[in-house]
Amino acid sequence: MKEHLKEYISLIDKHLDEYIPEKNNPQSIIYKAMRYSLFAGGKRLRPVLMLSCCKMCGGDINEVIPFACALEMIHTYSLIHDDLPAMDNDDLRRGKPTNHIKFNEATAILAGDALLNKAFEVVSSYNGQNIERALKAINMLAMSSGTEGMIGGQIVDMESENKSITLDELEYLHLNKTGAIIRSACTIGALMGGGCEEQIEAADNFAKNLGIAFQIQDDILDVTGTEEELGKPIGSDANEHKNTYVTLVGLEKSEELSKKYSNKAKESLEIFGKKADFLKSLTDYLITRRN
Ligand code: IPE
Ligand code: IPE
Ligand code: MG
Ligand code: MG
Ligand code: MG
Repeated sequence: MKEHLKEYISLIDKHLDEYIPEKNNPQSIIYKAMRYSLFAGGKRLRPVLMLSCCKMCGGDINEVIPFACALEMIHTYSLIHDDLPAMDNDDLRRGKPTNHIKFNEATAILAGDALLNKAFEVVSSYNGQNIERALKAINMLAMSSGTEGMIGGQIVDMESENKSITLDELEYLHLNKTGAIIRSACTIGALMGGGCEEQIEAADNFAKNLGIAFQIQDDILDVTGTEEELGKPIGSDANEHKNTYVTLVGLEKSEELSKKYSNKAKESLEIFGKKADFLKSLTDYLITRRN
C-alpha cells in the first residue's frame, strides 16, 4: 500500500508545482506564500482518495488530476485560515511555522483566498472528453467547500467554542468541517472515473464514515500526539475550548467510535470486491496514524 501511496503523492506534487509555479513579478510574494503551505508536507489524503476512487471505478486517473490538485489547494487554504489568530490561533502547521507567522496575517488571508481561486481556475480550464461530468464535479467541489460543507462546519465549530453541545451536534460539525471535502474527494473520483450511480453512492458512504473516523482520530491526536509527530501544536482544542469527541465522550470511547466508523466505511466498499483493497488498507492506516 505504501508504495502505491508514494506514487500518487509524487504525481500530485508534480502537478501542483506546475499549477502554482514561483513567479518573478510584483506579486511574487503571494506565490511564495501559497507554495510555502502547499509544499510544507501534508499527507495529501484527499487527492489520494480521489485518485483511488477513480481507479476503483475503472477510470483513468489523469482525468481527475486537476480536481485532485484543486481539492488539495482548497484544503490547504482551509488550514491557513483555520490557523489564523481569529480562528484556532496556531503557530505550527505541517511541521513549519504557520503561514501568518512566516509571512503576516494579510498575506496569509490572501494566500488562502488565492488558493481557493486557483482551485476553480484549474478545474474550469478542463478541456477533456467529459464536459458534462466535469461541470457536475466543479459544482460538487464548490458545494462541499461552501456553506453547506466545510465552511458550514467551520462556522459551527467556531460558534460552539466555550459552549456545550450534544454528540449529534458534534457529529454534524465533523461531517461538515472535515467530512464534506473527504466526500467530494471520493464522489468526484468515482464520477470522473465513470462510476455508475450505485458505485458513486458506495464511494459517498465510504467517505462519509471515513470523514468522521478521520476527524475523531484528529481529536484524539490533539490529546495523545506529540508536536514532532503531528507537525502541529498539541492541546490546541483545549486552549480554544473546542468541543471534540475526546471532551464529549472521553478517549476510550472515541477510539471505539473511530473504529466503528472506519469499519462502516470499509463495509460500504464491498461492491467493489478486490478493487477496494487499497482503500481498505488506507482506512486502517488512517485511524491508527500518528500524524
Ligand atoms: C487536518 O487535515 C485538518 C483536518 C480536517 C483534520 P490533515 O490531517 O489531512 O492535514 P494535512 O493535509 O496532512 O496537513
Ligand atoms: C479543521 O479542523 C478542519 C478544517 C476545515 C481546516 P481542526 O481545527 O481540528 O484541524 P487542525 O487540528 O487544526 O488540523
Ligand atoms: Mg479548527
Ligand atoms: Mg485547527
Ligand atoms: Mg484538530
